[in-house]
Amino acid sequence: MKKLLLIIISIQLAFSASAKEGMWIPLLLEKYNIEEMQEMGFKLTAEDIYSINQASMKDAVMIFNGGCTAELISDQGLIITNHHCGYSAIQSHSSVENDYLTDGFWAMSKQEELPNPDMTVTFLKYMEDVTDSVLWGVDENMTMQKREEIIAENIKKITEQATKDTHYTATVKPFFHGNQYFLFVNEVFKDVRLVGAPPSAIGKFGGDTDNWMWPRHTGDFSVFRIYANEDNEPAEYNSANKPYKPAKHFPVSLKGVDEGDFTMVFGYPGSTYQYVPSFHLEMLTEKVYPGLIDIRTHKLNIMDRYMEQDRGVRIKYAAKNARVSNSWKRWRGEIRGLDILNAQQKKEDYQAGFQEWVEEDSNRAAKYGTLLSEYEELYSSLGEVRLGRDMLLEVIYRNGIEVANVASLFRGLASLYEKEKGPNAEEVEKMKSGIRKDLTSIFKDYHQPIDKEITADILSLYKNSVDDNYLPAFYEEISGKHKGDYNAYADRLFKKTIFADETSSIEFLDNFSARSVKKLKKDPAWVLYENFMDVYGDQIYPVYKSLNHKTDSLNRLYMKAQMEYESGKNLYPDANFTLRVGYGKVKGYQARDAVQYLHQTTLEGIMEKDNPEIYDYRVPERLKELYRNKDYGRYEENGTVPVCFIATNHTTGGNSGSPVVNAEGHLIGVNFDRAWEGVMSDLMFNPEQCRNISIDIRYALFIIDKFAGAGYLLDEMTIVE
Ligand code: ARG
Ligand code: ASP
Repeated sequence: MKKLLLIIISIQLAFSASAKEGMWIPLLLEKYNIEEMQEMGFKLTAEDIYSINQASMKDAVMIFNGGCTAELISDQGLIITNHHCGYSAIQSHSSVENDYLTDGFWAMSKQEELPNPDMTVTFLKYMEDVTDSVLWGVDENMTMQKREEIIAENIKKITEQATKDTHYTATVKPFFHGNQYFLFVNEVFKDVRLVGAPPSAIGKFGGDTDNWMWPRHTGDFSVFRIYANEDNEPAEYNSANKPYKPAKHFPVSLKGVDEGDFTMVFGYPGSTYQYVPSFHLEMLTEKVYPGLIDIRTHKLNIMDRYMEQDRGVRIKYAAKNARVSNSWKRWRGEIRGLDILNAQQKKEDYQAGFQEWVEEDSNRAAKYGTLLSEYEELYSSLGEVRLGRDMLLEVIYRNGIEVANVASLFRGLASLYEKEKGPNAEEVEKMKSGIRKDLTSIFKDYHQPIDKEITADILSLYKNSVDDNYLPAFYEEISGKHKGDYNAYADRLFKKTIFADETSSIEFLDNFSARSVKKLKKDPAWVLYENFMDVYGDQIYPVYKSLNHKTDSLNRLYMKAQMEYESGKNLYPDANFTLRVGYGKVKGYQARDAVQYLHQTTLEGIMEKDNPEIYDYRVPERLKELYRNKDYGRYEENGTVPVCFIATNHTTGGNSGSPVVNAEGHLIGVNFDRAWEGVMSDLMFNPEQCRNISIDIRYALFIIDKFAGAGYLLDEMTIVE
């Protein structure tokens, strides 16, 4: 019996020591985390991760192109990130003749690398707690507006001061909902070239079918190189630029992972909402997410139907479909996960305890006593506006009605002609060339029948989902002239508009004059767009903004109160797209009753999924050949090649491409996703089921070396065998 008890206790200990919720601030690891990290197996120090005195891991991690993470893997500026993070760059270099999305791309020398005009990578030079300077002159009784003005003014001074006489940029970001502020001083590189990407049949293997799922077999990586000027500093693209020489790059480990191994993820998580009240979960799961899921289901059904019929359409809508599908699927997973966790009830119980604690002390009661009831009141009106706003954005942006987007491109040009003195020729030409570029890129991937069908469908859905106050004026035309027939309305719109066709749009642009403004304003796509913008400006934005102010100030207070309430506990700030450390262990999980998942997938699983009939599961011939010949080289383990693994690190959107390192700080994987049962982790983390998914670095090297024949790239890496 005693023995059994010991076993149970040690299992529990092992468990609590392996699952670690939290996204931690690199500057504060020494204070809060390093001891625990070392207990869990980490062999390095906090200074090895973040230091301003010596080269540290932070010098090898960067924001990749504004939304993902990437890391250096050589002393010649070579970086690795996800395939889905490099996707639009890879697509932009692709054409029917050179279809790099389908076939992959590998530069066989530095000369063959492809420049990407607007791409940047951003390194953190240092960060600093600037709370006192940001809040200087702020007092708790001033209006939200006054508070914001003072803070903005202070931040301006701080960032100017921090970047004076340097080529750095700086931002100040709020933490703990405005209870703390940090300054980030960054270095932004602008010459980033594509070195290589596997074909989508590897880099996006499993497609949207497997997205957000485990077991996973996606080779989700791509490789780029940073270039710098003679002084190793950032510069615009120039063929004379030199590969960037970093202070630090990650050694790449071939040692692989075992269940129970320590792992750390170091990257840029975007946003999480761990400290919101129960009302927030209720709003999302019962109102906002169902509306959004519904409208995206409609979009996807239409796109899918056309994409199945025509290969050209499939290519054109590949990226759009992936974008729409990604959050659509995650929202469904979040609702499910929160439900199974009984998250709302948990929050309510927590709030009951909190309220009790508040009322125990008259001081506290004065400060926090009405917080929860104010929240309740706020959320009783927030849901409707939030739904209206999100649905409106789904209709006119976010791969909604594309002709409306095309029409909106002419806004700036029209307003030039409406100025009193009329436009100057130079301004007009500049604007026209911008619009021309946008038109070309929109129509490159445009299929009118999809747009028309989506238009009719989502306009009708919009009407049925939102408050009547949010209906734009043109709906009168639908209910009047077209007797509620949305297809008839869309037929007429697409027949009459200039903007559903590239030739007529370009022609309209080329001949644009004062008279065109009138014509523009009569165009039904323009009318649709502008009517929606009117609703946004008059009905939605003012209310949304003031409710948001209220939310922000309640959130700040509630966060402060929670920090007092849980003063014994080490809380981490919500993600805000700043550099964070997550740590945990490689670990499988129980997905549902009687289903236990292992921590690792292999090449065997790719061959099991192989199905030439299903687009997402077509395995490239070359990979099958390597498989048949067991040509695995040094990437082999137990007679196969490892592909992906899962661990208990707390991650979110933006962490894609983040380095996953072992106890020695060597790169063992690249993070790219989370597993289905745990995608609610942005709102509530469940250590038993939340898992981040990484590509095993050995699979990436195997693809580079054996599949693509670009093994020369390995020569510049520091490989640990
Ligand atoms: N779910 C991952 C993330 O949120 C991967 C998304 C890209 N892949 C896709 N099939 N859409 O970014
Ligand atoms: N796939 C996400 C990304 O692109 C990562 C995640 O949400 O887990 O950042």
